[in-house]
Amino acid sequence: MYTTTFILAALAAVGQARFGREGLVQASVQALSDFGAPGAAGTLAGQTPGVLLAGASACAKLELADQIVAELGTDPAVLAAAAELVAAEKNFNPSAQAIPTICSDASLPATAELRGIVPLVDPDVVGADVQNANSAASLQTPFAADGLSVADVTTAQGFSNFTLQA
Ligand SMILES: *[C@@H]1O[C@H](CO)[C@@H](O)[C@H](O)[C@H]1NC(C)=O
Repeated sequence: MYTTTFILAALAAVGQARFGREGLVQASVQALSDFGAPGAAGTLAGQTPGVLLAGASACAKLELADQIVAELGTDPAVLAAAAELVAAEKNFNPSAQAIPTICSDASLPATAELRGIVPLVDPDVVGADVQNANSAASLQTPFAADGLSVADVTTAQGFSNFTLQA
């Protein structure tokens, strides 16, 4: 009884920690209110949860990251928030899918500074340890991405347990 309660509490804590990390992307974009037209950062921030939903296309967050830079500019703070979105984990519904989806459109993201960044994936997926280490590393130093989709870069760096999505 005690053990069950403890495990449930621990699982809830893990779930909240992972959910909170997605909320961080929205907060990072929201914080860019000094850039772009009045209200633009808030509007873009409000669009971040939708592109991270399990049902959203894996390419949608890359398009939104490009849009963030297009509307707010290339200040390092803007690029950092957009990069955070590119690297963000898309929600994952284990009862509907066994493995993550990653965008296979080589034209995305179009912003040069956002290329070569690979996304976090659900830590329960086989191979996620490699991918999540790669994701963190790519935010520091992006991987080579000339002519490659995010899916291509991901595979080149050693993680291939995902479904392509154009
Ligand atoms: C991919 O991940 C799923 C879910 O973790 C796992 O069941 C499967 O064995 C993995 N496939 C490969 C080829 O690693």
